[in-house]
Amino acid sequence: MIAALLAAATATAQAQTTTPAQAQAPEPAAAPTPSTPHATPPAPSFAFLTTPPLGLPPMPKPSGYTPTAAMFALGERLFFDPLLSRDRTVSCASCHPAATGFAHPDPLPKGIDGQLALRHAPALWNRGYGALQRWDGASPSLEAFVLEPIADAREMGFGVDAAIARLRADAHYGPAFAAAFDQPADAQGLQRALATYVRGIALGDAPYDRFLRGDADALTPQQRHGQWLFESKGGCWQCHTPPLFTDEGFHATGVGARDGELAAGRMTATGDAADRGRFKTPTLRGLRLTAPYMHDGSQRTLADVVDFYARGGAADVPLDPKMRGLDLSPAERAALVAFLASL
Ligand code: HEC
Ligand code: HEC
Repeated sequence: MIAALLAAATATAQAQTTTPAQAQAPEPAAAPTPSTPHATPPAPSFAFLTTPPLGLPPMPKPSGYTPTAAMFALGERLFFDPLLSRDRTVSCASCHPAATGFAHPDPLPKGIDGQLALRHAPALWNRGYGALQRWDGASPSLEAFVLEPIADAREMGFGVDAAIARLRADAHYGPAFAAAFDQPADAQGLQRALATYVRGIALGDAPYDRFLRGDADALTPQQRHGQWLFESKGGCWQCHTPPLFTDEGFHATGVGARDGELAAGRMTATGDAADRGRFKTPTLRGLRLTAPYMHDGSQRTLADVVDFYARGGAADVPLDPKMRGLDLSPAERAALVAFLASL
């Protein structure tokens, strides 16, 4: 079933690149048009870098190199390999398990020696579309970011040089790096391999995308009601801007505020007091797989999130002007949740 969906998505995406005129036409009647989102997330794919899933725009290219299938395959193996941590117990996937949309099911994930990370491990969908990484945007690119967990004392507790030495000595990775980069493992190769894999973690082709393509039955009436609320009085679209459902901007919603004071947020990265409390807008795609929510994992369910926005975010702290209380009936809250869960 999923394979069929993926095949259909790939076929559609290919049609988009070869014949743009056809890409605007509704799908042929024979194509599967499920009204439920992916039951399990689609596997990351190198093909998504050039032919993104239905509904997503072309993916920006990284600067300085052209990703290859060999880099993707190497990055995929590295992502799931605990050898990148000092004691070989923690992999990227330990905190970003594929089955839960690459987000961790705990509010704060555990790194090396059972230590807790400082923030919630976010979903990794569509990060190839964003430049700044981390909830506070402190990291300027995917390539720059992917080495940071390896060196982080709470996460993988190793060091980039030590990791490179281990990779060079490894019977599999020695030749694999040589094949992908024509040279022995080094920091740049490690960055490019991991970033290429993360770029392939793309998610589109939701009922929402099929609805926009002309399949009127792809969304249920309740989900359409939720979409309307999202785009009208909910005001959600202003920050969670379709089709990626993020503006990649930073906003104070009050998550993590304590005793009348906002969490530091983006101020940690910029040193600018005006950035206090601002965190990066996360995508809303794949949400039904990725609970709990927010930079601290403080919202357990989508219903909790909608209630949080209905209250207008945290009280007694200065918030983004777009955060205002919402008068939402129980039916409207349920509709909004149904729409969010369909993305
Ligand atoms: C111990 C848990 C842990 C491990 C191990 C880990 N991560 Fe993460 N990851 C996190 C947390 C927590 C964040 C949020 C960090 C922040 O905002 O400061 C994050 C953020 C990210 C982001 C940025 C997402 C965004 O929306 O900005 C990417 C990309 C990512 N991780 C990829 C990786 C890769 C690749 C590896 C392996 C090299 C890895 N992670 C290892 C916990 C982990
Ligand atoms: C002012 C910009 C803004 C508006 C308006 C906004 N959001 Fe958000 N949203 C954010 C930011 C920023 C975060 C992350 C906050 C944090 O963790 O500190 C977020 C987080 C979320 C999350 C959690 C996602 C995750 O992966 O953790 C959901 C779900 C969500 N918003 C849904 C909505 C809905 C529904 C609406 C409309 C009722 C809405 N948002 C309106 C900026 C906004």
